[in-house]
Amino acid sequence: MSPPARRALIILVVGFVTLAATLGALWYLRPGPVGRLVEQAGPQIGGEFQLVDHQGRRVTAASYAGRHMLVFFGFTHCPDVCPLALGEVSVALDALGPEAAAKVQPLFVSVDPERDTPAILKDYVAAFDDRITGLTGTPEEIAAAARAYRVYYKKVPVEGALGYTMDHSAFVYLMGPDGRLEAFFTHETKGEAMAKKIRGFLAS
Ligand code: NI
Repeated sequence: MSPPARRALIILVVGFVTLAATLGALWYLRPGPVGRLVEQAGPQIGGEFQLVDHQGRRVTAASYAGRHMLVFFGFTHCPDVCPLALGEVSVALDALGPEAAAKVQPLFVSVDPERDTPAILKDYVAAFDDRITGLTGTPEEIAAAARAYRVYYKKVPVEGALGYTMDHSAFVYLMGPDGRLEAFFTHETKGEAMAKKIRGFLAS
């Protein structure tokens, strides 16, 4: 092969590889269905709240300013979804390691303030991870916080000693230090995947 022909071939191969790499990167970074949802609802999710933490202290969103928050709404009598989600949050904190995990405040907000007193929440969250803070409040305060986070919940009567259960949406929201939504997870997101996503936001 003559030198000009070889040069042309090299340029062609390099060009092709560059094009393939660019297309691959674009495909990898494409917004998924969840990504699109975050883009649409993101700016409206989050904001001010006035609640009581599991130590009985009054807290607001400002109490956690400057840190990332992992916000999850649920209730201690939840049979499956809440334990699953809190378990994965704990896995995520372990996967992050102590230094990164310290930059993230996980908050478990009760949608059942009637039963979830600060003392009950304290024992409940500690069973999963003592880095999780339980939050409760008056029914009005919970309603306001749920509105801010676009969380749906509803009391549903059931047979038996419990009397009622709570229907509720089950997203885990990752909020930035500026209080804006960065990402959200479902109760089915594995802790390792959560940690990977969180790490990306801690670095940026
Ligand atoms: Ni639940």
